Amino acid sequence: MNDKQRITELREQLDLHNYRYYVLDDPEIPDVEYDRLLRELESLEQKHPELVTPQSPTQRVGAAPLKGFAEVRHELPMLSLRNCFTEDELLAFDKRVRERLGHEDEIEYAAEPKLDGLAVSLLYVNGRLERAATRGDGQQGEDVTQNIRTIKSAPLVLRGTSYPDRLEVRGEVYMPKKSFEKFNDQARKAGGKILVNPRNAAAGSLRQLDPKLTAQRPLAIYFYSVGIVEGGELSTRHSEVLRQLSEWGLRVCPQSTTVLGTSGCIQYYTSILEARDSLGYEIDGVVYKVDRFDMQQELGFVSRAPRWAIAHKFPAQEELTRIIGVEFQVGRTGALTPAAKLEPVFVGGVTVSNATLHNMDEIQRKDIRIGDTVIVRRAGDVIPEVVKVLVDRRPADAQFIILPVRCPICDSAVVRVEGEAVARCSGGLACPAQRKEAIKHFASRRAMDIEGLGDKLVEQLVDCGLVNSADGLYRLSHEQLAGLERMGDKSAQNLLDGIEGSKKTTLARFIYALGIREVGEATAQVLSGYFGNLEALIESNEQALQQITDVGPIVARHIATFFLQPHNLEVIGSLRSAGIHWQDQQAMRAEQRTLEGSTFVLTGTLQGMTRDEAKQRLQALGAKVSSSVSARTTAVIAGENPGSKQDKAESLGVEILDENALLKLLNS
Ligand code: IVH
Repeated sequence: MNDKQRITELREQLDLHNYRYYVLDDPEIPDVEYDRLLRELESLEQKHPELVTPQSPTQRVGAAPLKGFAEVRHELPMLSLRNCFTEDELLAFDKRVRERLGHEDEIEYAAEPKLDGLAVSLLYVNGRLERAATRGDGQQGEDVTQNIRTIKSAPLVLRGTSYPDRLEVRGEVYMPKKSFEKFNDQARKAGGKILVNPRNAAAGSLRQLDPKLTAQRPLAIYFYSVGIVEGGELSTRHSEVLRQLSEWGLRVCPQSTTVLGTSGCIQYYTSILEARDSLGYEIDGVVYKVDRFDMQQELGFVSRAPRWAIAHKFPAQEELTRIIGVEFQVGRTGALTPAAKLEPVFVGGVTVSNATLHNMDEIQRKDIRIGDTVIVRRAGDVIPEVVKVLVDRRPADAQFIILPVRCPICDSAVVRVEGEAVARCSGGLACPAQRKEAIKHFASRRAMDIEGLGDKLVEQLVDCGLVNSADGLYRLSHEQLAGLERMGDKSAQNLLDGIEGSKKTTLARFIYALGIREVGEATAQVLSGYFGNLEALIESNEQALQQITDVGPIVARHIATFFLQPHNLEVIGSLRSAGIHWQDQQAMRAEQRTLEGSTFVLTGTLQGMTRDEAKQRLQALGAKVSSSVSARTTAVIAGENPGSKQDKAESLGVEILDENALLKLLNS
């Protein structure tokens, strides 16, 4: 094969993999393999610059910065949607539709998420992306072709051959939630610009004059309608057209579907509202469109909005309100978390009067002061937060927020470790707030799971002096409990039963319940598996702890420090003499750690389990799991489409095992 043929072949392969990845969401090869193909194409094109075309997958970045965007007049205006907020409004819309059409039966609607991004139009001429524009005012937008070309889910060439000669597709550019968070995490570390929300992020990114900057922003696109169609025919239904678009490689939102009548619409609305937090993209409602184009045509438009479609909006997740004060809450580890007291505001479906301000660095970064008008956001079950200050509306007497020098609960000194964002109360377990949080954690479902002991009750027990630390729970008497406010004989007995029931536990739960800093459930599991009994863990030291896979230097220090405190050892002793017990794993341990000292690398897709599961099970048997192959690797476990790690293993003579062999290993 000569270079020219190889170039053609590589482009076809890359286009196919792009399609599988972005449109079908079913990649065939790992990312590294894709990158390898792309690099091969790049180097061949460097050798033969005359063979480079604008449609080549290598040509997504590189255009020179613009002085300004050219104007684009839309041949067919880009319309907007009317909104409705209630079921009644939806019923009225449907009634109007059926009356106009003289249609008695239920209407078939295409139902789609209403994506919260930026509307764009892409024109394909003979299957090639020719021009892309923003919606602008609907009549006239801006030419953002070079920026759109940097978005990998916007194809430079359409697939197949059945598309119209001139095809204008419309859709929404957005920033996936994950990418948004990742981008901001990186920006925070690098001291770069923080993006306010995914919608602004998408809009701002697309309107960069330098396409190289846009290329660094992780944007994506979903297509939801067509404009110009010339030299070819499309299907007679909107839902069918969406199917055609995806066949041509244009990405369509997978939650798009069809429903029957208003009951179907409402069901759809509810299911998408429920799924909202788990979707990878931001939405602010759903859209219903009459599915049949002949009906759409008959219905026509009023002003700039079609009569055949409506957006059914969700309650807003962002609202304006004012900060009227700040309180510092003290957590289990003494961390002081500033919380804003707000003028109550209805947002995300509930009335909100508190919002977290995270820590002092966040307050400084966002320049938040008492008296400020702010945007609060409440998304799903997440704690409401202050997104942004409207500095223009700051009153002259706005006050700075100052970190208290003494703990608001116990008056101990507040300390702030250099380089750490959090400030902590130094009172330790002498601080009632920390005691309460420690006991709440100890009793919580995933720790000791004490049934009947809720947060309020813990506070009550600490406040009235009945319990000072977790072991005190096991000395409570029926008489003491029944004497508490709002506590009857029966609930007192239930709680005592719950406390008694918690005594039989596992070592992992007990370690987790101790509330050692940075020791979550996963680390507790690892420690339990590694040491097998509590004594060995207590007697271990910082250095030894660091030898354990998944225990880093900071965690090791926290663990070692915890077990050096006489108070902690006393509480542990008292808990054990109260009868808390578990089955020691030591006897089982020696036999179980059959893979101690070996290192595995996982590659490709496994059929019976995820790679994470495989990793955990290998680690449970004492093996190390690494991400790169070296001569020291014991074996590479290769699932389907294994990628370059298998090649590397072959070249180093490292053993390669398939999934069956893995199962044998795990079960041996
Ligand atoms: S259809 C006449 N479908 O909503 C049809 N629009 O208010 C107009 N949008 O500018 C567009 N998701 O930015 C349509 N699934 C969806 C949409 C959607 C979001 C946006 C779009 C448009 C605005 C209209």
